[in-house]
Amino acid sequence: MENKYVTILPDTDKHLREKCVDVRLPLSKKDKEVMEGLIQYVVDSRDKDLAEQYGLQAASGLAAPQIGVNRNMIVVVMDEEDEEGNVEQVVTALVNPKIVSYSEQYSYLSSGEGCLSVPETHEGYVPRHARITVEAYDYLAKKKVKIRAKGYYAIVLQHEIDHLSGILYYDHINKNNPYAEISGAIVID
Ligand code: CO
Repeated sequence: MENKYVTILPDTDKHLREKCVDVRLPLSKKDKEVMEGLIQYVVDSRDKDLAEQYGLQAASGLAAPQIGVNRNMIVVVMDEEDEEGNVEQVVTALVNPKIVSYSEQYSYLSSGEGCLSVPETHEGYVPRHARITVEAYDYLAKKKVKIRAKGYYAIVLQHEIDHLSGILYYDHINKNNPYAEISGAIVID
């Protein structure tokens, strides 16, 4: 069905394995359209009705190469609960994100990771740095930012930033022993 949403490419597409180039600031009209397309897909994919109507796969994040654009842009959406227990969606849309520092300690999701570009399941732990600092241009705030992330947020950021180097989550899984213990790692359920 034709719709306004971007098309997500599978990992067999060459764009998923190519390195991305930095985006020039200020963003061109075309780069803005790419970013808006990523944001709209991820945000709407988390809305049950829209997801069902348009066949969107629920996403925590998306990177530009997944829609065939090898340029350094990613989007991450997190649910954040305020003091009253209201859940709010927080969108992080980053241009030219770079991990400038990270912890030696690892963390991983106990259930493993998934990716909209990877239709089949690859079981196993995906080691990620438990804490990272990312420098980027924040598309929504319209300024340079330094983000300190940990927990699930740090994992999703690393997953999306990996896409910009043509790296997929299953590249990190221990081939001989996918569930090998990761020494000192924080387990995230
Ligand atoms: Co992915």
